[in-house]
Amino acid sequence: MASSSDPTANTAWNPRLYDDRHAFVWKHGASLVELLSPQPSEKILDLGCGTGRLTAQIAESGATVSGIDASFEMIAEARRLYPALTFNTADARDFTVDEPLDAVFSNAVLHWVRPPEAVAACVHRALKPGGRFVAEFGGRGNVSRVIAALRRVLPEFGASADLLPAWYYPSIAEYAAVLEQAGLETTSARLFDRPTHLEGADGLKNWVTMFAVAAVDAVPAERREAFFARLEAAARDELFHDGAWYADYRRLQIVAVRKRAV
Ligand code: BEZ
Repeated sequence: MASSSDPTANTAWNPRLYDDRHAFVWKHGASLVELLSPQPSEKILDLGCGTGRLTAQIAESGATVSGIDASFEMIAEARRLYPALTFNTADARDFTVDEPLDAVFSNAVLHWVRPPEAVAACVHRALKPGGRFVAEFGGRGNVSRVIAALRRVLPEFGASADLLPAWYYPSIAEYAAVLEQAGLETTSARLFDRPTHLEGADGLKNWVTMFAVAAVDAVPAERREAFFARLEAAARDELFHDGAWYADYRRLQIVAVRKRAV
């Protein structure tokens, strides 16, 4: 998701490119849909739905589901792919729903959105008492090796590492506290490694080009290829195995419920 005032604002959300090169995002999300376990009578929101792939999987259960995303481009593509479903542009920190929901679902989005407290307050307001929030995103330590390599190499090419996005990668305790404060009780949480294959010989370069736009743009155009070669050299020992690049993803997977009035 992206809006002009958030940390994703410099991210080039080209929906077709995203679906093509980063299909692993929604493919991994299938297990989160299983965890959600949507039921036919339920009303569910897919928060940060992107191109709607997982929204459509949730809809297969018979649940009534809609998707929101801050990116106009993503929403346009979701509408094109799934014309029978409802998709709207909205900010995760400032959305409302027409009627209270059974569940809010979110995959691979919340590490882009600050402050997390604003998201949690909106999720709380959107849910029925007892309704559930099922989310997965980057947790503490996510892509730490990619970031370390970028921090080392960017200054060598005259670019500041401060231009990297302000990603939010909380620990379980930190995020459960944010949810608790908003009136959501965490019922399960997992933080786990998910080394993620980046397709092709240019996998690392493509990932960085897509997700660290401002930092890459700060490298003079004539030095870009040298920059990527140096970045690959810096990251190779830790992130290149068996002939392929892997990003050191760590996922935080969380289920929380809106507290019932006592
Ligand atoms: C992630 O899914 O963890 C992620 C994706 C893009 C940029 C940073 C993190």
